[in-house]
Amino acid sequence: MSTQLPHADVAVVGGGVIGLAAAWRARQRGLEVVVLDRADFGAGASRAAAGMLAPVAEADAQERALLVHNLESARRWPAFAAELADVTGLDVGYRACGSLLLARDRDEAEHVERERALRERMGLAVERLLGSEARRREPALAPSLRLALALPDDHAVEPARLVAALLEACSRAGVHLYPHSVVEDIATLDAERIVIAAGAWSGSLGAVPVRPVKGQALRLRDPSGPGLCDHVLRFEGGYLVPRGDGRYYLGATMEERGFDTAVTALGVYELLRDAAEVLPGILELEIDEAFAGLRPGTPDNAPIVGTDPVDERIVWATGHFRNGILLCPITAELVADELTGGRPDHAFRPERFAATTEATPA
Ligand code: FAD
Ligand code: GLY
Repeated sequence: MSTQLPHADVAVVGGGVIGLAAAWRARQRGLEVVVLDRADFGAGASRAAAGMLAPVAEADAQERALLVHNLESARRWPAFAAELADVTGLDVGYRACGSLLLARDRDEAEHVERERALRERMGLAVERLLGSEARRREPALAPSLRLALALPDDHAVEPARLVAALLEACSRAGVHLYPHSVVEDIATLDAERIVIAAGAWSGSLGAVPVRPVKGQALRLRDPSGPGLCDHVLRFEGGYLVPRGDGRYYLGATMEERGFDTAVTALGVYELLRDAAEVLPGILELEIDEAFAGLRPGTPDNAPIVGTDPVDERIVWATGHFRNGILLCPITAELVADELTGGRPDHAFRPERFAATTEATPA
């Protein structure tokens, strides 16, 4: 890193949604904060994300603590979006649109029934819909659709707008922002504490078991305007997120391919094929962009947030895998607590991996 930085209380490495939100909250608590990103802010997983706030759809019976954490962050989202709008004048595109989980055939219907039973046991809001009722709510769904599950509490925001609002909030609060500033060695940073929020690349900066999980996706546009669908649609093989203005996000593959971000014909074909089976009108849309992003995955699919068990100077804020947009409000508060002398008690502290990790090259 060649740029001369001011001395700071906190240097945040990585300016995705996690690093920016943590920096903003830390600054609100009176700390001098710098954020460094080797590229443009948000250019990692954050801008590639769909922006679903989906604790219910993503619930897993084996991951109870994570479910509670995801639900708590979802609960905080409306106030978080309102505060960002208040401070910056920017709208993050929060839409309380709800989601539908769709089944095309008998096998998928059986799967959806199991998912419903599981969520009911966990006390989550779900509603079983016959195909006809799902089509009443979303008339463009395929007539052959067998069954659907309404998830009224799973909503969405627009990640590119979230990045823009967080940047503006940081800038107005007095956070020092350094895009295009690679950190090769955290020992070179002149700060009391260092927050590592480098997403899928975090393992190159210390001992943390984070790996990249590739997701290919498409941005689509309806030249005739909004109206093809209003809910987030989830189906075997992907999901479709309407932005409410004729733009749609179709995602996403899940691939273990290291740091490869190539867009493949197969990836695009499968996304479009599966989406068209539930919403045939999707094939009329125009393609704005096909791209791939890297989710920061961890061995237990949960984030890693807290002071490093060996080096007290380091605070980890990484490993948010499929839910970093959802978890942005809660992680930012936990990091700010950590930086101001607290040691919040939660299940996602880095010491759970302490015995098993060593730094990995990016
Ligand atoms: P990133 O956004 O990846 O930011 C890390 C930053 O660190 C990057 O900008 C990078 O340039 C920088 N960096 C790395 N190394 C260095 C270095 N050495 N020096 C300086 N800077 C460095 N989550 C949801 O909640 N809902 C969704 O619907 C959703 N959909 C997704 C769809 C796809 C296709 C993908 C890929 C992810 C999705 N996610 C979703 C997950 C979400 O995008 C991530 O969990 C979240 O963006 C992680 O944010 P981050 O700030 O930790 O990482
Ligand atoms: N949460 C959606 C994804 O990661 O693809």
